[in-house]
Amino acid sequence: MNQGNSRTVSSNQTGVHPDLSVLLERHCTKPWRRPVARHSLEIFEQVLPQLQQAADGLILDAGCGTGDSSRHLAGQYPDSLIVAVDQSGHRLQRQRSLPEPDNLLLLRADLQDFWRLLHDGGFRLQRHFLFYPNPWPKKRHIQRRWHGHPVLPWLLALGGVLEVRSNWLVYVEEFAFVLNKLGVEACKEPVQAPGVSPFERKYALSGQTLYRLQADLRAAAIPVPGPRVFPVADHTTG
Ligand SMILES: C[S@@+](CC[C@H](N)C(=O)[O-])C[C@H]1O[C@@H](n2cnc3c(N)ncnc32)[C@H](O)[C@@H]1O
Repeated sequence: MNQGNSRTVSSNQTGVHPDLSVLLERHCTKPWRRPVARHSLEIFEQVLPQLQQAADGLILDAGCGTGDSSRHLAGQYPDSLIVAVDQSGHRLQRQRSLPEPDNLLLLRADLQDFWRLLHDGGFRLQRHFLFYPNPWPKKRHIQRRWHGHPVLPWLLALGGVLEVRSNWLVYVEEFAFVLNKLGVEACKEPVQAPGVSPFERKYALSGQTLYRLQADLRAAAIPVPGPRVFPVADHTTG
């Protein structure tokens, strides 16, 4: 990865997207029937016993990339199981010189499936990290940002303490906006000591300001529209 020459996010949007409220309302009330990929279901079923064994201490690193941040979390939370999910096999399979921590599960799956499978499997999280999700900064791509995506209710209903980091202020402002609409307080601040993940290091070396949002979802009542049983399809992740 190139270090230190990353450009700041440029967008034709300067504040919270005007359609976000309407999208949120739709995503929390209208059923979303996207089939789960067979590949994601198989991975989920393979690791189900480990998830069940660690059910009281599950931490999800969603979109973990190379898993560097997940290894960091494994050291920080030795009594929890770090579930690190990314759709990119290429990033996950990067060779390591050190053995992997015992409390780390690196999984290749699509989060659009994995969040729903975890939720509907009855799991709830201790902590949930989204480090530098793709910002999709074009205005017309609002529904690709996780807070504008139909999967949002499942993501949030997994509970726990949620942390989102981004190099685009609008991304965390929009995330805070949807949380506030759902009655959840979110606190935003600049990242003080960057370095948790490759993207964070790259942006910090380029002199960018990085932002983090934290919200406690343990007591939140997030409406999930269903269905509870998803059809399975054979499309694969990238
Ligand atoms: C900008 S990278 C950030 C990676 C890492 N968190 C970091 O901070 O270095 C975004 C990551 O999200 C992953 N991702 C995007 N959409 C995904 C999806 N639907 N399911 C799983 N992973 C996804 C990408 O493969 C990529 O590794």
